[in-house]
Amino acid sequence: MSNSIRKWVFVLIVPLLVLLILNIVGGSSGHKVPLQQVSVDLDDKASLQRGAKYYMNYCFGCHSLNFSRYNRVAKDIGLTSENGFSDDDVTKLIKENLIFTTDEEGKPVKTGTLMKTAYSPKAAAEAFGTSVPDLSLVGRSRGPEWIYSYLKGFYLDPSRPMGVNNIVFPEVGMPDVLINLRGHQVLEHEAGNAEEGEHHGAPKLKLVKPGKLSPPEFDRVVKDLTAFLTYVSEPAQLSRKTYGIFVLLFLILFFFVALALEKEYWKDIH
Ligand code: HEC
Repeated sequence: MSNSIRKWVFVLIVPLLVLLILNIVGGSSGHKVPLQQVSVDLDDKASLQRGAKYYMNYCFGCHSLNFSRYNRVAKDIGLTSENGFSDDDVTKLIKENLIFTTDEEGKPVKTGTLMKTAYSPKAAAEAFGTSVPDLSLVGRSRGPEWIYSYLKGFYLDPSRPMGVNNIVFPEVGMPDVLINLRGHQVLEHEAGNAEEGEHHGAPKLKLVKPGKLSPPEFDRVVKDLTAFLTYVSEPAQLSRKTYGIFVLLFLILFFFVALALEKEYWKDIH
């Protein structure tokens, strides 16, 4: 084998092998249940607005968003003058729909403040036996599919302190805060393959007591929450896409300019 081929084999094969090993290691320690697919559309402002509302009502009591400011979030999810809201409207909407907390002195929180919760890490440790994570980056660290499957994955388990467990996050410390909307789920197993000596097959969840919402309505709530958390983890992705289009247009234009220049330079040389 010539040296250059050997070099290429090294350059191509070694990273592939590393990826394969990482996949196997990651796969064995990760979730055994396949994650549910979800496609979040960050251009769907109505979905982001609903997601923000659900987040502030159901999650923010425990989970802060330490890197976000109320007014930036409001702007990004479409509460802006371009969408027909005056500055006063926006301030009012933020105060009515997003801000439910007061600052340390008990005064109403200003719209430019970071989205911190009043929940102290100590109180959380006492209540849940674990810390309550800030969810600013969870959209990136776990990804939308994981968040979606996690919020749908709670089931009743009397052996756990909160009375629930989670199919993608075993032994979870978080209570099932959406249980009234979703209803009660129990864990079941599909029939196992006796020939392979399995007692039971893939785990699946069954709704045994309906909640306030129908399953499709509940899925939409969870999807909106997932979209909101995906946006929060990288606010710049909303504007990045627009920049991307301009950059591509510029490159196309520049290609023709460069082509014309090239012709011009070479026209007298034969
Ligand atoms: C009563 C407090 C409480 C509320 C309300 C709450 N959570 Fe949690 N959440 C927790 C705790 C505690 C954990 C840590 C669980 C653990 O480590 O076992 C957690 C963990 C999580 C995680 C996993 C983070 C990670 O990467 O490990 C996500 C995602 C999450 N919560 C989303 C939500 C969403 C979305 C809502 C609102 C629908 C919500 N939580 C409401 C207490 C809460």
